[in-house]
Amino acid sequence: MLKQRKVNFVLYLIQHKLYTMKKLILVLVAAVAFSCGDNKKEEKTDVKIGTQVEEAPPAEVVDDAVANVTIEGNDQMKFNKTEIRVKAGQKVKLTLKHVGKMEKTVMGHNWALLTQDADVAAVGQASALASETDYIPADMQDKFIVHTKMLGGGESETIEFDAPAPGTYTFMCTFPGHYALMQGKFIVE
Ligand code: CU
Repeated sequence: MLKQRKVNFVLYLIQHKLYTMKKLILVLVAAVAFSCGDNKKEEKTDVKIGTQVEEAPPAEVVDDAVANVTIEGNDQMKFNKTEIRVKAGQKVKLTLKHVGKMEKTVMGHNWALLTQDADVAAVGQASALASETDYIPADMQDKFIVHTKMLGGGESETIEFDAPAPGTYTFMCTFPGHYALMQGKFIVE
């Protein structure tokens, strides 16, 4: 009698153990499946990030802090841009290229960024008379945020400055008679 109970008990234990093992196996399988799924997800994300990094080289990270701008002036008295956009807080690295062949005394170009309160026509007219100071009128220096020097054909200059406060500004060439054609908007977003 006692033996039978013992046997029963052992059987029960075995059954219970089996049941527990099954449960354990199920849990394990689920965990493995879950972690596999998770890994795949992670892998996918990694691949995505990897691809993005490939598409956007580290240089582009630098581009967020620095706005590289190139603008050309030619012998037809024209800039190749009438609008330049940068973001507030950016450092602007601006290159002016005179892609023409004419002398700077005949077809000189500079790139001058004016303050928002500047009277564009007044600055343009005063500049025309300021040959002594590279066509930047001495008494209107405060109307210029920044400017390059006057360039002749084939020359170029790069200037660096911090983007001013958000808003729309005027840029122009201050060589006599040029500002009417050679001007545009410098927009800080
Ligand atoms: Cu010019």
